[in-house]
Amino acid sequence: MSMHMLPPLRAVVLITLFSCLFPFVASTTDTFNKIPKPTFSFDQLWKLEKNFWDSFLYPTNLEQTQGNSSTIFAPDVQGRVDITRTFDGDELNREYIFGLFADPDHVSLVGVPIAYNITQFTANDNIASATTVVTFNASTFGVLIPVTIDTWIEFNPDGKIAQYDAVFRWFDYLLDFLLQGVATKINATSPDLAVSYVSDVLAKTICATHEQHCTGSNQQYTDTAACYDFLTKTTRFGKGYELGRNTLLCREVHEHMVQYRPDVHCPHIGPSGGGYCVDDMNYSQTVLQRYFNDSWIAFGYGNDQNIWLAN
Ligand SMILES: *[C@@H]1O[C@H](CO)[C@@H](O)[C@H](O)[C@H]1NC(C)=O
Ligand SMILES: *[C@@H]1O[C@H](CO)[C@@H](O)[C@H](O)[C@H]1NC(C)=O
Ligand SMILES: *[C@@H]1O[C@H](CO)[C@@H](O)[C@H](O)[C@H]1NC(C)=O
Ligand SMILES: *[C@@H]1O[C@H](CO)[C@@H](O)[C@H](O)[C@H]1NC(C)=O
Ligand SMILES: *[C@@H]1O[C@H](CO)[C@@H](O)[C@H](O)[C@H]1NC(C)=O
Ligand SMILES: *[C@@H]1O[C@H](CO)[C@@H](O)[C@H](O)[C@H]1NC(C)=O
Repeated sequence: MSMHMLPPLRAVVLITLFSCLFPFVASTTDTFNKIPKPTFSFDQLWKLEKNFWDSFLYPTNLEQTQGNSSTIFAPDVQGRVDITRTFDGDELNREYIFGLFADPDHVSLVGVPIAYNITQFTANDNIASATTVVTFNASTFGVLIPVTIDTWIEFNPDGKIAQYDAVFRWFDYLLDFLLQGVATKINATSPDLAVSYVSDVLAKTICATHEQHCTGSNQQYTDTAACYDFLTKTTRFGKGYELGRNTLLCREVHEHMVQYRPDVHCPHIGPSGGGYCVDDMNYSQTVLQRYFNDSWIAFGYGNDQNIWLAN
């Protein structure tokens, strides 16, 4: 039996022991939180964590892209991903977290997630922190690739995700690895040639999606040539941390979501970036953004110095 899977009795004994040793913990929770926080056992939080990652894998993730409401996200979920930006609400997050990785035959950076292993996990109250190594089938690049995702997840009383904060660990390294693979494959003499090659493939894919879905009032470019020109010449390719900035890589992320709601997502692949692929925040603003409504520190600790809280 793994260390995480405490039999219920042992978990109860531990929690009781904990409450006896630290009796002040329960009362501080009530003082600091505006709304009462649900308290889950370690075992429940482990299962909720596993449930999220099980839903994330292809093809199970397809289910989450359909229907009106999520079994995973709270309606007003708040989410942040370090290499992109913040995302509000169930619908957007389902398109983004599940829809983005749901088509193995479509050109994409990392492809579809097919397996995962949680390598680090700790949890208290309704908050779980984990590191998960997810194997992606990056079929565009012809590789199976491990991607390490660090997550903080806060669950609401129904066990749905109320907030998440995700970090793609070693993402710059991953991007370089993919580009290096391309360079080898095309016998490129310089890394820039690999970037040009990938830019061409991504731009053609984005422009084909624009052609198909962004029509009428959703149209962003006058024609495919203008689209290709903008994506390969006007905007920059982007660095590993720029998937939510005015870059080609950002538009490649949003391209996958256009099919779900063209009226919402077409502007994101267009020249304006639609508020998502824009250089609206500098480094300090990004790092100091007051975004989350709930604290990420359990038991009501640290609220006096938590600079990431919105209010
Ligand atoms: C979505 O909601 C609408 C109206 O509330 C309903 O008519 C429709 O059947 C729902 N669709 C799905 C897939 O649940
Ligand atoms: C977060 O707080 C802001 C400001 O009080 C509010 O407008 C928003 O609805 C809240 N969001 C959630 C998910 O609670
Ligand atoms: C990866 O994706 C390709 C293309 O869809 C598929 O042929 C291959 O079987 C997949 N590999 C694995 C291990 O799922
Ligand atoms: C993780 O665990 C699964 C079994 O659940 C296994 O198939 C897979 O190869 C493991 N490794 C990675 C990197 O996903
Ligand atoms: C790369 O070089 C190898 C051996 O020199 C050759 O067989 C292959 O066709 C080349 N590939 C491309 C895309 O030029
Ligand atoms: C970021 O932008 C803010 C607001 O315009 C400005 O006050 C700050 O000096 C800038 N910081 C950096 C590091 O550029």
